[in-house]
Amino acid sequence: MDTSKANFIDALVALLGANAILQPPEDFARYTQDWAGHRLGEPLAVARPKTTEEVAAVVRLCRENGVRMVPQGGHTGLVGGALPDKDNNEIVISLERMNRVHSIDPVGFTMVVDGGCVLEEIKRIAEEQECFFPLSLGAQGSCQIGGNIATNAGGLNVLRYGMMRELVLGLEVVLPDGRIWNGMTALRKDNRAYNLKQLFIGSEGTLGIVTAAVLKLFPKPEQTQTALLAIPSVAAAMQLYTLARRSCSDLLSAFELIPRKCMELAFEAAPQLTDPLDVAYPYYVLMETAATGPVDLAQMMENFVEQGMTAELILDGVLAASSAQALQLWFIRESMLEGQRMRGEHLRTDVSVPISALADFVDEATTVVTHYSPESTVIPYGHVGDGNLHFNILPPPGMAAEQAVTVLHELEELIFDVLDRFNGSISAEHGIGRIKQQAYLKRASEAERELLVSIKRAFDPDCLMSADRVLPASMIKSSMNK
Ligand code: FAD
Ligand code: LAC
Ligand code: ZN
Repeated sequence: MDTSKANFIDALVALLGANAILQPPEDFARYTQDWAGHRLGEPLAVARPKTTEEVAAVVRLCRENGVRMVPQGGHTGLVGGALPDKDNNEIVISLERMNRVHSIDPVGFTMVVDGGCVLEEIKRIAEEQECFFPLSLGAQGSCQIGGNIATNAGGLNVLRYGMMRELVLGLEVVLPDGRIWNGMTALRKDNRAYNLKQLFIGSEGTLGIVTAAVLKLFPKPEQTQTALLAIPSVAAAMQLYTLARRSCSDLLSAFELIPRKCMELAFEAAPQLTDPLDVAYPYYVLMETAATGPVDLAQMMENFVEQGMTAELILDGVLAASSAQALQLWFIRESMLEGQRMRGEHLRTDVSVPISALADFVDEATTVVTHYSPESTVIPYGHVGDGNLHFNILPPPGMAAEQAVTVLHELEELIFDVLDRFNGSISAEHGIGRIKQQAYLKRASEAERELLVSIKRAFDPDCLMSADRVLPASMIKSSMNK
């Protein structure tokens, strides 16, 4: 290591103490490889501050020394944003030691948390106070609220409660120059000037580090109905969705599409799971309704299922008779992802189209994929109640990994071309990071790109924080010469 790098690390240690800084030859594996198995390079060091002031001090030191930095939460993001870059010149600022829940206000339904709190822990502590924090996703056991805010995470309950953007009342952010922006308000209504909070939400660590947040809570549901319904087609799923919206008193909280293949992938990943139904069906919907107060939710679900069966939209199904059985059904949904990961190289997408066009999109995109690569397997699953699909592809069985990468890349382009015809989004909930950057920039108008560059320049003119994520640093630098 050259002297200037060694001096920089010494200065970091002097700031936070030796325990807070991981440096070579330490094993960085935990901070270099994400859930999906992506890995680019090694960080210069990993800083693990304990307070907002410590985060600010680290950022100031980086800025003074022109050192790049990247905030890291639970490392479950799916677009490579938290991966330290391949030049081995970046420091990871991990929020893992900033994990305190500070307070809950069960009257105002708010909660104050550190940026490094793990989502599952936030949900558990809210429930202890008969409150509910609705963000739910497969990675909730390890993702952090700062990461959820930075990616504007979505997940399973968006159709009822909205994305992260709608669940944050206040934020504290360390800016790329080391100043602290205190926006920790619990106000429900606040129209003062431009909404900086919303600018930080979904900015993927490029505009600042989220160190704390005031979250919006809801009453904890007193009753929940969970059903796995077998359906003939994606079109039937969408008709059923309309029916559910109308006949469940707006109490629908999740509506997930699962193709048969995904069910099988879940069984591969979790052999202890058994098929809840006796025969296999082409598609399933996993749905949930939830309520507080004197509502007969069971009767409502029964009426809905009856209507669905009469309309021949539902072929078969199972209603969870207990919360344990409901969890078992949700475990199928969770295990599908592990099943895909176990298959190795595959195409993971995160697209959205207008809800009413979703079935047509699946038809068109499937036709295009099958035409190009008949042996590939299309597995469109996900949050169809939000018009958001993970239109994923498994490559032909036995295809060499190198060839699969090429085929899957080509298929992604073809799927995105179809998506463009539907005015869809190439990133519904995972963000842009590094992995979606090219596809995004190709589609962004000149005006949009220029506005984004101006925003990044206003916050981080030296491009030291999360450089090359969302926008390439070269784009910011070249804009300076104009
Ligand atoms: P990381 O992966 O550590 O970081 C993600 C990005 O945020 C990076 O750019 C990083 O630099 C930045 N960042 C992290 N912490 C901070 C901070 N404190 N301040 C500023 N920037 C920060 N997403 C969905 O939307 N819906 C889903 O249903 C869903 N399901 C998932 C299921 C699985 C099994 C997995 C692995 C992922 C899933 N995701 C889903 C992806 C989702 O984006 C992440 O799970 C989560 O939001 C990221 O949080 P994290 O703490 O792991 O962030
Ligand atoms: C899901 C993640 C991948 O919905 O977003 O499974
Ligand atoms: Zn998802």
